[in-house]
Amino acid sequence: MTRTLTIRRPDDWHLHLRDGAMLQSVLPETARHFARAIIMPNLVPPVVTAKDAAAYRDLILAALPDNADFTPLMTLYLTEGTDPADVAAAFADGLITAVKLYPAGATTNSASGVRDLNNARQVLEKMAEIGLPLCIHGEVTTHEVDIFDREQVFLETVLDPLRRDLPELRVTLEHITTAHGIDYVRDAPGDIAGTITTHHLMINRNHMLVGGIRPHYYCLPIVKRAEHQLALRKAATSGHPRFFLGTDSAPHLDGAKETACGCAGVFSAPNTMSCLAHVFEEAAALDQLEAFASLNGPARYGLAPNDATLTLEKRAEPVDYPRKYHTPDGPLTLFDPGHPLHWHILD
Ligand code: NCD
Ligand code: ZN
Repeated sequence: MTRTLTIRRPDDWHLHLRDGAMLQSVLPETARHFARAIIMPNLVPPVVTAKDAAAYRDLILAALPDNADFTPLMTLYLTEGTDPADVAAAFADGLITAVKLYPAGATTNSASGVRDLNNARQVLEKMAEIGLPLCIHGEVTTHEVDIFDREQVFLETVLDPLRRDLPELRVTLEHITTAHGIDYVRDAPGDIAGTITTHHLMINRNHMLVGGIRPHYYCLPIVKRAEHQLALRKAATSGHPRFFLGTDSAPHLDGAKETACGCAGVFSAPNTMSCLAHVFEEAAALDQLEAFASLNGPARYGLAPNDATLTLEKRAEPVDYPRKYHTPDGPLTLFDPGHPLHWHILD
């Protein structure tokens, strides 16, 4: 029952690589399958200025294995103090590919995020003028809003007003987790696209909460009902050009996950391509995997797709992914899709 599928080499349009020992441990896993990735700037302290981004890029390049062919696409973390001129110069120099908006307090290391978009107005206007995309963590952080509704409320109260106000702004709604987000990105006028993660395609909130609480499935935005998972699957496997892969692979050491107040984030870089092939095969849409993982993202960012290819092979025996990775600081658990994965990635 061997089947093979060769696609252009994929890119990851939302990735957390961290720094220090974690960077060293996880970077080879992404570089093994992916040619490029949008690198999230939520380090401690965050990557705010062009100078920070250049230093972080150099750190990543220095940590790459010798034979790796991988390009980090850098982003800046938008704050209320961000200087429009610094952002514009970084874009003109080819140093950054996007700017990231974290509503303050929305997720891991987002304390310096934006509290009031009016205070970032000049940067957003400049970005609209020069065509620099804004990647958005689309959740409100208001205490009264239920955590499962935070994406939907964001669309209505923040994203749509922002896009009406600045229609030229190029927006990527990241890690979409609801049918509402899918509908918005598919149908809204203007320049918008959205990324979908590996794990949101594979699990819903039952996987996280039924039969015991599973901290390794806890991420933000939080996984939703099965009907939302199905909407994400439908969008991803449709090949629609506005949807593409952003794994949101976000490693945290087991000690930070398996505790009374665990961190949000799922580490999925190593087995993402096997997971995606599984999902696309289930949807009888293997012919759309290349669009989702390798074509729609570059088209959106005005880049050529990769010339190199990746071959996947379905075998009777499952892939033997490690359950845990061992970093110098402790173990790190790999995303568990809950069933064997039969699509092997031929390096
Ligand atoms: C991310 C992290 O750990 O940095 N966590 C997550 O659950 N996705 C932050 C983020 O992208 O929200
Ligand atoms: Zn993320």
